[in-house]
Parts: sequence; structure tokens; C-alpha cells
Amino acid sequence: MPGPDMLSHWLLDPGVTFLNHGCFGATPRRVLEAQTAWRERLESRPVELLDRGCRDLLVEPKRAVGAFIGALPDDFGFVTNATGGINAVLRSLRLEPGDEIVTTDHVYNAVQQTLRYLARMSGARTIRVAVPLPVPGPEHVTDTIAAALTDRTRLVLVDHIGSATGVVFPVKQIVDLCSSRGIDVLVDGAHGPGMLELDLAGLGAAYYTGNLHKWVCAPKGAAFLWVRPDRQSGIHPNTISHFLDEGLAEEFQWQGTRDITAWLCAPDAIDFMGQFGWDEVRRHNHELAVWAQGMLSDRWQVAASTPADGSMLGSMATLPLPGGLRERFADVAALQQHIYDHDHIEVPIIDWTDRWWVRVSCQVYNERAQYERLGEAVMEHATG
Ligand SMILES: Cc1ncc(COP(=O)(O)O)c(C=O)c1O
Repeated sequence: MPGPDMLSHWLLDPGVTFLNHGCFGATPRRVLEAQTAWRERLESRPVELLDRGCRDLLVEPKRAVGAFIGALPDDFGFVTNATGGINAVLRSLRLEPGDEIVTTDHVYNAVQQTLRYLARMSGARTIRVAVPLPVPGPEHVTDTIAAALTDRTRLVLVDHIGSATGVVFPVKQIVDLCSSRGIDVLVDGAHGPGMLELDLAGLGAAYYTGNLHKWVCAPKGAAFLWVRPDRQSGIHPNTISHFLDEGLAEEFQWQGTRDITAWLCAPDAIDFMGQFGWDEVRRHNHELAVWAQGMLSDRWQVAASTPADGSMLGSMATLPLPGGLRERFADVAALQQHIYDHDHIEVPIIDWTDRWWVRVSCQVYNERAQYERLGEAVMEHATG
């Protein structure tokens, strides 16, 4: 399946070694063509399709996405991105001064800012526990979170896959732990759909938000928020519109006039990647990430961030950079730009817990030689 001609399905510049699928995803040509066709159709009869027809148009996308994530269509709504899904949950909660939200230091910065805003508005505190790398195993994460729970904990907000770190969190164990204490869990699954097989109904979290524009390769602006049935009446979209209090699915299907074509194309993206076999796509990407973690940690003589068996990796791996770079580059942005300009490699360099890291993404259009080139380029820049 994967091979050099895979890239031709995307508009990605073949002159750039693209190791950053995780940032915004990348949409295949065929899915973009479907989006253009949808746009033309909607523009031909805007009122009929968007006003009278909107609910009907979303039936098939809801069905297809629901089947893909293990959810009933009425239990989730489309949103524009995971940030919006997180905001809808956090800003719907009625928190009081002294309430606690437990999260980890892997939390995505935009989410951290939303938590700050929430603290300002409600007086609730965020308890941010450290999960340092290398992480020895999934039980270490669960134990760390368990130790932070108190009688004031109202919510645990945990990444499915850490943004900076690529670590796959043991969300099922965390949900089970919190359920036994009567605490709700919000899973930030920005990277979950397409990277990991999902069964949201079976997971049993109170809330799960995920992007379709990252690893499902849908157009940008395709994401969802799933809410467990017993929590649905309390959750509202960030934009309150005509259907307030008419149920989660109704409220989210209309959030004001907007371009809904990214949502309409979600089934095209699921089908496009599905032609290669979703299990095969996930297996390829995961094996490449496990291999890249091992190869780069050997090449740079640094510790791998997660167990070598890949049990805490999906399709991304984050490694500490070797010494010598901080002396030569002003900051991570300067190093990232240099690698792009000099080596034509697009890869994020991240300052996390006061150390510099690189995160590699693995998608079907990537191959081993690209990570080997990164390994050499970094060594070259580290030694001058
Ligand atoms: C863990 C995590 N949460 C949230 C986001 C935000 O995603 P979006 O920009 O699509 O809202 C990201 C983006 O990379 C992420 O990695």
C-alpha cells in the first residue's frame, strides 16, 4: 500500500519532506474535489439546501462518522475543531470556587488557556500534574492522575494523544478509575480519530472531542463533540442558536450560517483512506512511528520517550533533541525554520518542560528514508 506514489494523492509539495501531518492534517485531492462539488451544489440552491435541507444533508455524514467512531448519530454534534469541542464542554459546566479540574502537563496550550479563562470566570482551580518523559508505562500515568484526585475534583481533562509529546494516554483505564470515584472525564481526542480505532460508546467517558481534519484527512473544519447521553442536556455549542434545549444533536446541527462542506465531506475522507484499509493505514503509521522513535534515539543517543514496544505510541513520536542545538539557535522557531530552509523538512521543534524536542508524524505517504534524513540533518546542525 504505502509507497512513493502515495504522495501524488495529496497536494503536498514533493520538494518538502513533510513529517508534520499531526499539525493540521492534509486533505487528499479527491476529498477536496468532493468539497468543491458540495460547495457548487450548495451555492446553486442555497436556501433549499442550507435552510430546509440542512438536517437531511447531515444525516449521512452523521451516520458514517458515527459508525467510524463507535457512536450513535444523536450522541455527537459536528464542531469546527477540537478547540471548539473543548470550549463547548468547559464553558457549559457550572463550576464553583474551589472546584478542581485535573489535567496533565501534556495538555494542549489552547486548552490550558481555556482552563485559565474558566478559572477566571468560576473560581475553579486547575491541578496540572506532571507526567515526565520518558514515561515508563501506562499504569504510571493512571497512578499519577489517581494521586491528584480529591473530593473537590469535578472533571479530569486528559489527552487521548498528547500534542507535543505524541504519547497515547491510557484513556480507558483513566475513565474507569474516575468512574469508580464518580468523576467525569473529558477526553481531548484532537488526534484520536483515524490514528486509533475508536469505540466512544464503549469508552464511557462523559465527553470526547476529536478532529476529523487531522488523521481522517477530512477538509479543515471537520470535528465532533461526543457527549454521554446522561450529560447531554447540560452541554451547548459555543454559539447558541435557534434550537436551544432541543437536544444535543439539534443544537449542534445549526450553529449559525457557515460552510458545512467540511462536515459533508467527512464520509469521502473516511472512504478515501478506507480504500487502503483503515487497519492497514493505522498499522503502517504506527509501525513507522515505533521504528522512527528507535532509529532516532539511537542516532542521537537520547532516551526514547515511550516504551520501545510502541505500547504508548500511535502515529507520532516525540524525541528529545541531542545537545549542541541550544547554543546555535536562538529558540525552537529558529531551529524549525532552519531545518525547513536548509533541509526542506517540515517538522515541529517544541519547547516542552524546558527541553527541546522534535515530533515526527507518520502517514501513508511517508517512508523511512525521510526520518533518516532528519536524523542526519539534526546531527549536522548540532555539531555545527
Ligand atoms: C491535543 C490537542 N488538542 C487540541 C488541539 C487543537 O486542535 P484544533 O486546532 O483542530 O482545534 C490540538 C492540535 O494539534 C491537539 O494536539
